[in-house]
Amino acid sequence: VKHLLGIRDLTRQDIELVFQTADQFKEVLQRPIKKVPTLRDTTIVNVFFENSTRTRLSFELAEKRLGADVMNFSASGSSVSKGETLIDTVNNILSMKVDMVVMRHSATGAPHFLAKHINVPIVNAGDGINEHPTQALLDAFSIREKLGSVEGKKIAICGDIMHSRVALSNIYCLKKLGAEVTVVGPPTLIPKHIAKALDVNVSYDIKETLKWADVANVLRIQLERQNMPLFSTLREYSLAYGVNRKLLDSLGKEIVIMHPGPINRGVELSSDVADSGQSIILDQVENGVATRMAVLYLLARKEN
Ligand code: CP
Repeated sequence: VKHLLGIRDLTRQDIELVFQTADQFKEVLQRPIKKVPTLRDTTIVNVFFENSTRTRLSFELAEKRLGADVMNFSASGSSVSKGETLIDTVNNILSMKVDMVVMRHSATGAPHFLAKHINVPIVNAGDGINEHPTQALLDAFSIREKLGSVEGKKIAICGDIMHSRVALSNIYCLKKLGAEVTVVGPPTLIPKHIAKALDVNVSYDIKETLKWADVANVLRIQLERQNMPLFSTLREYSLAYGVNRKLLDSLGKEIVIMHPGPINRGVELSSDVADSGQSIILDQVENGVATRMAVLYLLARKEN
């Protein structure tokens, strides 16, 4: 059984196969009839132990566009509140003859743990501060669509690197595709040992980094994962590291703006930038459906 647990496990060829497959599904999604019968006899469950808007809906739509039968499980309102374990929860769902599991969990490694105990493919929809592989695939697919390729492009990943599974998966994905990556933010959110282990450029100067970059992927400050305030106010963070019109106008060039969502408007990104022609934020969301269709299709192929 093959899973998609993280970008760390993929080769450049694997990623390019996802893109080529997503290209075909994106073409299908432009047609009047957007549905294909590819996974008609497949049942997929989306198991979400953490909140989500984009990822959950995008997986559900991708599954329905592929003709799969879809079940949705949210931990809130389930028997998890009565003490049922992760393994028991998933095994009970699988006994209903489910063929694939898409899972989000707040614990790092939860899908890897599950993969040792069940024999159907698992897609990691975000595990703690570890990885969010389909977000990185749709982000790189969107860069490729906007700039023609990822190879050789200069990508700045901005803000809360330490708490971000999007950052880690993006770094793995972009480096495998031959991009140059710089992480930029306050030292408190980019510990040196993490930056060293990831083998990326580190900057604490947002203006200089954006002058260098072709693309800025701006990350949300993950207040829910922080035990202590890193700036005395969010306004202070916004003044030092927020991406806004004044900063972009001072660069002397136009760069592409990305954000995985949800945006803390006025904190890491101002509305006049998020909603501008420089932003491809909603293209990222659109591309999420085709990219996830590609991942589900490739994992479900019988030769796996
Ligand atoms: N980008 C992302 O994972 O958004 P959600 O948390 O809304 O799924």
